[in-house]
Amino acid sequence: MSTLQTEHVYKVFGRRPDDAVRALESGTGRDELRADGTTAAVIDASFDVKPGQIFVVMGLSGSGKSTLLRMLNGLLEPTSGRILFGGQDLTALSAREMRRVRSTKISMVFQHFALFPHRNVLENAGYGLAVQGVPRAERDRRAAEALALCGLEGWENSWPDELSGGMQQRVGLARALATDADLLLMDESFSALDPLIRRDMQDQLLELQKRFKKTIVFITHDLNEAMRIGDAVAVMRDGRIVQQGTAEDILTRPADDYVAAFVQDVDRSRVLTADAVMTSPARSDADGCDCPTVTADTPLADLCAVSARVPHAVDVTGTDGAVVGSVAQDRLVAFIGDEQRAPVRCTEVAA
Ligand SMILES: Nc1ncnc2c1ncn2[C@@H]1O[C@H](COP(=O)(O)OP(=O)(O)OP(=O)(O)O)[C@@H](O)[C@H]1O
Ligand SMILES: [Mg+2]
Repeated sequence: MSTLQTEHVYKVFGRRPDDAVRALESGTGRDELRADGTTAAVIDASFDVKPGQIFVVMGLSGSGKSTLLRMLNGLLEPTSGRILFGGQDLTALSAREMRRVRSTKISMVFQHFALFPHRNVLENAGYGLAVQGVPRAERDRRAAEALALCGLEGWENSWPDELSGGMQQRVGLARALATDADLLLMDESFSALDPLIRRDMQDQLLELQKRFKKTIVFITHDLNEAMRIGDAVAVMRDGRIVQQGTAEDILTRPADDYVAAFVQDVDRSRVLTADAVMTSPARSDADGCDCPTVTADTPLADLCAVSARVPHAVDVTGTDGAVVGSVAQDRLVAFIGDEQRAPVRCTEVAA
């Protein structure tokens, strides 16, 4: 299992890209470059993704997400910087070596997964293995296993046009899993699905990830999706990663106004947990109270339900059952309402 690392990666489209990188390094702005027809699509991207992590990249259209992903699988060569996977420098490989790495170690799932219409579901799921030259019997066995993991057992002999959009997307995921690739790159993979199926796919991905611990880079426009599945989230703006951290970091400590505006519509009650809101130590009047409590990983939505039934701050307990902190109702409301400062009360205003 391998870690993915990018070090100061740039991608510039246009004439004299190397000069453009030097200009960017010495402070020239992206807009100045654009004036003479040069697009700095990715600027100085550095991050690490460990095995078992889902690294989510989000940002507005044109911010450089797909360009970044295409460099990770070698379809685009960085103008500058290094990409290491499992310690191997992908940017130093020949085109032939890169093709080999791409067919054995990296899998990609796109937004509109193009299945071959004249191959059945089993053959479609086994396509990556066919490219690797895996013999028919083993290919079919591994493809069938991957389909079963993606909830498609019994559909092996169907044709793609007999499947719903969600099921076709599952075949795409099965194809990626069947190859045993360590690095999974997903570009808006669930974006074309309707909300319920999309949520289902997110659950399935999280479930599969618990078992396989792949290294995953997942691009999405959907903030709630990013917050739900990302162990780490990077926000891109105009080619740069302007903030990276946990979903909670980004929600509660946005690096700038752009990130703050970007995340303002996220459903905080489902992303943030008691841990983010609680104050410690435990409240002083907690002794002998038998009201319901929560744990540090209880989502705020569930914490609200408890808070409504308890006449005082809700106690937060640790793994050993001991009270480690508490959440007062006004603090809870302030957090859900995106009020990061302490709530102002009228007596404080008067003072
Ligand atoms: N092959 C190319 N030649 C020139 N410019 C390109 C090329 N590919 C991408 N770009 C430019 O690079 C910038 C980043 O594009 P990219 O496709 O990476 O954005 P994105 O964040 O994936 O957007 P979206 O959310 O719309 O998919 C854009 O300004 C785009 O026009
Ligand atoms: Mg894109």
